[in-house]
Amino acid sequence: MEKRVAIIGAGISGLLACKYAAARGFTPVVFEEQAKVGGLWNHTIESTRLQNAKATFEFSDFRWPSSIEDMFPTNFKVVEYLESYAHNFGLLPYIKFNSKVMDMDYVGESEEEMRSWEFWGATGKPFGSKRKWILKVFNSKDNSTLVFSEVLHSMDYSAMDNAAATDFIKGKRVAIIGSGKTAVDTAFECAMANGSDYPCTMIQRTPHWALPDAFPWGINFGYFCATRFSELMVHKPGEGLLFSLIATLLTPLRWVISKFVESYIRWKLPLKKYGMVPKERFLDEIAACQIYMLPETFYDKVENGSIVLQKSQNLTFCKDGLIIDNDDHIKADVVIFATGYKGDEKLANIFKSPIFRNHIAGSRDSTIPLYRQIVHPRIPGVAAIGYSESASNLYSIEMRCKWLACLLDETVQLPRMEEMEKDIKMWDEYMKRYAANGKYRRACIAGLHIWYNDQLCRDIGANPRRKKGFFTEMFQPYGLNGAHDGSNSSRARNVDCVRVFPNVYG
Ligand SMILES: Cc1cc2nc3c(=O)[nH]c(=O)nc-3n(C[C@H](O)[C@H](O)[C@H](O)COP(=O)(O)OP(=O)(O)OC[C@H]3O[C@@H](n4cnc5c(N)ncnc54)[C@H](O)[C@@H]3O)c2cc1C
Ligand SMILES: NC(=O)c1ccc[n+]([C@@H]2O[C@H](COP(=O)([O-])OP(=O)(O)OC[C@H]3O[C@@H](n4cnc5c(N)ncnc54)[C@H](OP(=O)(O)O)[C@@H]3O)[C@@H](O)[C@H]2O)c1
Repeated sequence: MEKRVAIIGAGISGLLACKYAAARGFTPVVFEEQAKVGGLWNHTIESTRLQNAKATFEFSDFRWPSSIEDMFPTNFKVVEYLESYAHNFGLLPYIKFNSKVMDMDYVGESEEEMRSWEFWGATGKPFGSKRKWILKVFNSKDNSTLVFSEVLHSMDYSAMDNAAATDFIKGKRVAIIGSGKTAVDTAFECAMANGSDYPCTMIQRTPHWALPDAFPWGINFGYFCATRFSELMVHKPGEGLLFSLIATLLTPLRWVISKFVESYIRWKLPLKKYGMVPKERFLDEIAACQIYMLPETFYDKVENGSIVLQKSQNLTFCKDGLIIDNDDHIKADVVIFATGYKGDEKLANIFKSPIFRNHIAGSRDSTIPLYRQIVHPRIPGVAAIGYSESASNLYSIEMRCKWLACLLDETVQLPRMEEMEKDIKMWDEYMKRYAANGKYRRACIAGLHIWYNDQLCRDIGANPRRKKGFFTEMFQPYGLNGAHDGSNSSRARNVDCVRVFPNVYG
C-alpha cells in the first residue's frame, strides 16, 4: 500500500519535514494556507529580525548567502532564505498553497481497541493497514478578510502590510498588553511612529529578563546556558544517580550564574527605576523560553516618554481606554493584545475527534504530552514538529525532522506507550521544577537543549558528540554556536539513522 505523508504548513517545520520525508522515498503533500512558504516570517511586524545570530539559525546543508552581512537578518531576509531553501531542494512541487486544513478525522480502530494498545498505533509504527487520517482542506485563495478594529491581537496587527500597520497606529495612543518579545517590538514600533506626542503604554503582567545584547561583558551568552557543563547544573529527566548528585552539588553555581547575568542586565538597563525587575531567576526564564533580545534603544524610548511602562495584574475597558490595577486610567485609541500565539489550542483544534483533542491538550496542569516533543503516544500516525520551543528553533526543528524521517521508514522503533508516557512525565517534572512563572506548558527545551539533542541522536543511532576533545565538548557552547562551528559539527548535524535503539534514556 502506498504510504502517504501529509504535512500541515510550509513554515520551517513543514519544509524540513517535507525534505526529510521525500529523501526517504515518501511522497509528501504539504498543505499551506498562505500563498508562500516561510510561515510566520511572512507576517511579522516590520521591525522583526532574527533574535539569534544567523549562524545559529541555519540549515545544516544550506548556508546563509554570503551577501547577507547582518548578524541578525530582517524578516524579509529570513523569508528569502527559506524560499531559496525550498527552491534549492525542489520542495515547491510538493506544496499545495492556499490550502487550509480545516480538520483531521481518524478512520480506523475503535476507541476501545485503541485503549488496549501497548505501542503507539498498536505496533509502534507510523503506518497501519486499517487506518487513515482524512484531512478536510479548504481552498483559501481570495478568501482572506482582514478586519481592522480598535482592539486587536498582535497576530492581526502583524498580518497587516507594513504601510497599513504604520497608518493604523500613526497619531494614536496605543496600549499594548504583554511583556513578551512581540509586545516590546510592537511598543518599539509604535514609539518609532509616534514619538512622545502619542506615547505607547505597555502593560506588563510579569516583567521578564530581556537581553540588551548577546555578549555580557564581552562573553558569548552560550557559555552561561548552552554548554554541557551548564546542563550538569540541572536535574535532568531520567538522569542516573551520578548526574543527580552532580546537579545537586552544582545548584548553587547555577544560582551564581543567574545572578551574574542578572547583574549585567540590571547594570545595562534601568529596570529598577521603572519597577521592571523580574522576580524569577534568569536561567529559569531560559528554561521557560521567556528570554528575548530587547531592541537596542528600547529604554531610550522609555526615557524620552515615547513608551510608558506599567505593571498590572488586571485590566478592564472603559470609554476611552483601559483601567488597570489601583484604578489607574490609561487613555488609549488602540489596544493590541500581544498575549502569545496559543499554540496548544491550535494543535488541539485541528483534530476533529474530541478524544484526540483531549489527548493532545493533556491536563491543564501538565506539559503537552509529546514523546521527544514530537509524537503523542495515543495518537497514531501523527507528529507535531514545531510546537516545542528552543533558543534556536531552526536547529531543533531540523533534528526533529531527521528523527521523524527515521521513524517513518521504521529505522527508529518507539518504545511501549507506557515507557513513552513515563518519559513524558519525567520531562513534565523537569519543566515544573525549572520553568519560571509556572510556564511549563510552553514545552521549552532551551534549558536542556544538549540533553534533548543527545536523546534524538541516540534514538537514530548517531553520535551526539561533536566537539574535539573533552574541554571543548564540556565548556564550549553547543548547537547554538552554529551548525558550522569549526568542530566536528557536520558529523552530528548530518546525522542519518543507522541502527535501531529501542529505548534509551540519555
Ligand atoms: C514573530 C516571531 C518571531 C520569531 N523569531 C524567532 C527567532 O528569531 N529565532 C528562533 O529561533 N525562533 C523564532 N521564532 C519561533 C518560530 O516559531 C520558529 O523560528 C519557526 O519559524 C517556526 O516555524 P514553523 O514552521 O514551526 O511554524 P510557522 O512558521 O508558524 O509555520 C506554520 C505554517 O503552517 C501554516 N498553517 C497553519 N495552520 C494551517 C492549516 N490548518 N492548514 C494549512 N496550513 C496551515 C501557516 O500558514 C504557516 O505557513 C519566532 C516566532 C515568532 C512568532
Ligand atoms: N525574532 C523576533 O524578533 C520575535 C518577535 C516576536 C516574537 N518572537 C517569538 O515568538 C514567540 C511568542 O512571543 P510573544 O511575545 O508573541 O508571546 P509570549 O512569549 O507567549 O508572551 C505573551 C505575553 O502576553 C502576556 N499575557 C498572556 N496572557 C495575558 C493576559 N490574559 N493578561 C495579560 N498579559 C497576558 C504574557 O504575560 P505573562 O508572562 O505574565 O504570562 C506574556 O508577557 C516567542 O518565542 C518569541 O521569542 C520572536
